[in-house]
Amino acid sequence: MKRILITGATGNVGLETIRFLYESNTPNQIIAGVRNIGKAKEIFIDYPGLNFVTFDFEQTDTFNTALENIDTIFILRPPHISDIPTYFKPLIEKIKDKGIHQIVFLSVQGAEKSKIIPHTKIEKLIEESGIDHIFLRPGYFMQNLSTTLIQDIQLKRKIILPAGHAKFNWIDIQNIGEIASLMLDDFASYKNQTIELTGNECENFSTVTNLINEVISDKIEYYNVNPFKFYCIKKKEGNPVGMVLVMIMLHFLPRFQKVPDISDSYEKLTGKKPTTLREFISREKNKFDTLVI
Ligand SMILES: NC(=O)c1ccc[n+]([C@@H]2O[C@H](COP(=O)([O-])OP(=O)(O)OC[C@H]3O[C@@H](n4cnc5c(N)ncnc54)[C@H](OP(=O)(O)O)[C@@H]3O)[C@@H](O)[C@H]2O)c1
Repeated sequence: MKRILITGATGNVGLETIRFLYESNTPNQIIAGVRNIGKAKEIFIDYPGLNFVTFDFEQTDTFNTALENIDTIFILRPPHISDIPTYFKPLIEKIKDKGIHQIVFLSVQGAEKSKIIPHTKIEKLIEESGIDHIFLRPGYFMQNLSTTLIQDIQLKRKIILPAGHAKFNWIDIQNIGEIASLMLDDFASYKNQTIELTGNECENFSTVTNLINEVISDKIEYYNVNPFKFYCIKKKEGNPVGMVLVMIMLHFLPRFQKVPDISDSYEKLTGKKPTTLREFISREKNKFDTLVI
């Protein structure tokens, strides 16, 4: 039995990863590394066997205890952390000091092509450490529609982005959690591999808007704005500058980049088809239909 530490446990991918580990009756002991144990215990109320430890990427003094007797670690980069040398360098060093031999890192599709995105820097730190690792590189989360973009959808009936006609490789986070749980349990089979994860659809926001409109009555529209206008709208709403800039980078730059390839990893690894956009939208339909006032 291994002891597996899951960072970002309470987030989108962390939650699904833990759910799949339990659903597949993992033989391993799972520890959620979280900032607030009380809050996490409420979230994971249906997981009585789950262990908790305080872990904060921004508090390096939490690393020592959290990493004690851990065999395998699932790492993600919380979206607001971009200073990799300050937070991830000491973490990877501590992982090595503690003799942890297995890292599964949630990266992003295309990380190998960029010098500026934080995931590339984290991948490099892990490679340089010599620790065995698996890099999971997912495409664009379908759940962005039901999280980051949901307020505009619900309140303004719009998807507002500077994405133009750029196409994205949509992937359901449930599919990512399933693969992450597989990698964590059976690390040896995928050791030092990079796994790209996408669904089977590469679509732009106009198409996705039409797909949403097929199942809701109060229709929405895709409002393509230039990056400056997007910045002004989001800043006026009180969003942090860093987050708005990341949103621009994620949605504006793909307009000038080669469309990334679709990957068949999910199907190869599970024998199942990945979630389609239509399936995801039907599953989450109530969120898109609700007009919150
Ligand atoms: N969105 C996309 O389309 C996309 C595509 C590919 C890759 N990605 C990558 O996926 C990652 C985000 O995954 P996600 O959506 O699962 O994230 P998320 O839902 O935003 O969750 C972030 C998690 O990190 C935790 N966290 C935040 N700050 C922390 C800190 N200082 N110390 C310890 N834990 C902390 C949060 O815990 P609390 O409960 O304490 O807040 C939460 O569990 C990012 O690296 C992103 O670049 C995203």
